[in-house]
Amino acid sequence: MKSQNKIERCNLTRQVDTLLPELIEAATSVLKSGKYVLGEKLKAFEESFANYVGTKYAVGVASGTEALYLSLRVLDIGIGDEVITTPFTAVPTISAIIMTGARPVFADIDPTTFTIAPKSIAKVISNNTKAIIPVHIYGLMADMDAIADIAEQRTIPIIEDAAQAHGSQSHERRAGSIGLMGCFSFYPTKNLGAFGDGGLITTNNKKIAEKLFLLRNYGQTSPYTTKINGINTRLDDLQAAMLLAKLPYLDKWNKRRQEIAEIYYQKLTIPEIEIPIIPKGYKSNYHVFVIRAKQRDELWNHLESNGIQANVYYPIPGHLQESNNYLGYNKGDFLVAEEASNSVIALPMFPELSNEEVNTVINSIYEFYGYNLK
Ligand SMILES: Cc1ncc(COP(=O)(O)O)c(C=O)c1O
Repeated sequence: MKSQNKIERCNLTRQVDTLLPELIEAATSVLKSGKYVLGEKLKAFEESFANYVGTKYAVGVASGTEALYLSLRVLDIGIGDEVITTPFTAVPTISAIIMTGARPVFADIDPTTFTIAPKSIAKVISNNTKAIIPVHIYGLMADMDAIADIAEQRTIPIIEDAAQAHGSQSHERRAGSIGLMGCFSFYPTKNLGAFGDGGLITTNNKKIAEKLFLLRNYGQTSPYTTKINGINTRLDDLQAAMLLAKLPYLDKWNKRRQEIAEIYYQKLTIPEIEIPIIPKGYKSNYHVFVIRAKQRDELWNHLESNGIQANVYYPIPGHLQESNNYLGYNKGDFLVAEEASNSVIALPMFPELSNEEVNTVINSIYEFYGYNLK
């Protein structure tokens, strides 16, 4: 390893260092309140996040996976139903569907954006399709208008998997504000991250919000009284307090990510690298910065041996995961997703990354392909 200071794919402690007094103050107020579950901080965070996204309601839950699960449960989706999503996503998008008893049905992605291709959705809709879950992958929103056109013909609800898309926009609309529901994760590495697990569902639909509030809390309408059967998936007040303290910084952090992306865009202009294009009218929050690279695995090794951490999201598409063999898909079924899995690599990206570090990453990539940049 040449460099002493490793450049991480995502460093979380630099942000904590700058915010520590505020975080401690927020945590202290929860600790002293004596109310740690379904307390004031959760309510305040839900209101602030709904306001940020531009929806009427937000329901805090324990993880992004459970946000997706509850968004299906609230629609009574279960055994015998089909839910369409992308195979090019994080495992939990798919496991949330499976948790309900429904069957995930995959549709291939668009090669330029990595998001689900509306045309592929149209091909796999059936009478059993009960929901469509587009994933705003890497922080770039899916083509919600084209998906809505397809879904509306059949009145199929759309649930946005916005786990990676805090603050992302499409035509001035924020992720989580377009579908019937939007599902967020606050896993620590997310653009708005907790210090543990957390998730949330946004919606403009009052009835759905009311049912979600019940479902996340055993289905209880009042203590020890249930109208429907629910589970325990609540966003803890301590995590809500952390998220509430961090939310005012989200736009600033996303802006810095966009600046970093701009440096990558301007300098990574070699033919061995392909950088995905952000379509007109869209704003990515650059949750991760992903490129397609020739000799991807060799480049990955080269970066690692130079102290630069990269990562591959996602090396195996959902239809080829062993756990999903029972769905009956084969290699070759979703060629665009398979090609992406073989060629993508995520470079260091987090708001506290310095320009100098970004340039070190770029130089190392040039070095690997035999260009002399310095
Ligand atoms: C696209 C996507 N969907 C769902 C999830 C699930 O979120 P969580 O890890 O909070 O359960 C994640 C996070 O890993 C994700 O990236």
